[in-house]
Amino acid sequence: MKSNLVIAIDGTSASGKSTNAKLVAKALGFVYVDTGAMYRTLAWYCLQKRVDVHDAKAVANLCRRWKTSLECVDHPVRHVRLLVDGYYPEKEIRTEETSAAVPHVAAVPKVRDWMRDKQRECIEFGNLVMEGRDIGTNVFPETDHKFYLDACINERTKRREAEGVRENLAARDERDSQRAAAPLMIALGAMVINNSQMTSSETSGIIIKEMKKRLGLQAGQPGPATAAHSVQP
Ligand code: DC
Repeated sequence: MKSNLVIAIDGTSASGKSTNAKLVAKALGFVYVDTGAMYRTLAWYCLQKRVDVHDAKAVANLCRRWKTSLECVDHPVRHVRLLVDGYYPEKEIRTEETSAAVPHVAAVPKVRDWMRDKQRECIEFGNLVMEGRDIGTNVFPETDHKFYLDACINERTKRREAEGVRENLAARDERDSQRAAAPLMIALGAMVINNSQMTSSETSGIIIKEMKKRLGLQAGQPGPATAAHSVQP
C-alpha cells in the first residue's frame, strides 16, 4: 500500500493553524486538511435535522447514519472536503450558530471515533498537512512531524475580531482542553511555536524550514511525492 507523510498542526483557537497549514501545504506540495471544518459540518447537519447538540446519544446516532464522502479539490490550495449528500456547506459551517454548536458535537466520543477514521482516510489523497486539536495525539499519533501553535489570548482575540468574529476564545479553549475525549493538548515530541509576535509568513517559514531540513530538501525545492517516515492508512 502507498505510504504518505502527515504533518500534524494542532493548537488553540485563532492561533493561526488554518493560515499556516495552507501556506505549509502550498510550499511543500502537500494536501491541506481542515478537521475543524468536518466537526463544523456535523454541527451544521445536527441543526438542519433539528437534533439537540446537547444530546450526545442523538448526535452519535445522526453521525452514524449521515451520508458523506470525501473529495480532494485543487483550488486555491489542494485540500480535502467532507460532503454531505454530495453538498459542501462552505458558508453555513462558519455561522455563529454553527460555531456555538460545534464544541458540544466535538465532545461526543462516538463522533470523535467516526472523525478519526474519516480523517485517517484522507491519507489516500497524498502527503497531508492536517490541522486540528488532536491530530498529533489521536488521529495520526505515529507521525514524526508534529507542530503545536499558540499565541496569547489578547492577540488571538484581536485576530478573530479582525475576521469580524466576536467569540469567547478562552471559554472555547477551556471546553476543548477539558473534555474527556481527545482533549486539546501538546503531543509528545511536538515543536511548540508561540506566534504572538510573528506574522504568518514567519510562522509557516519555521515549519517549512524544519520540514525541508527533515526531508533533506533544498530551500525552494517542492516537497516529495512520498518519503521516508511515512504513515499507513
Ligand atoms: O478549528 P475550528 O474553530 O474550525 O474548530 C471547530 C471546533 O471543532 C472547535 O470547538 C474545536 C473542535 N475540533 C476538535 O475538537 N478537534 C479537531 N481535530 C478539530 C476541531
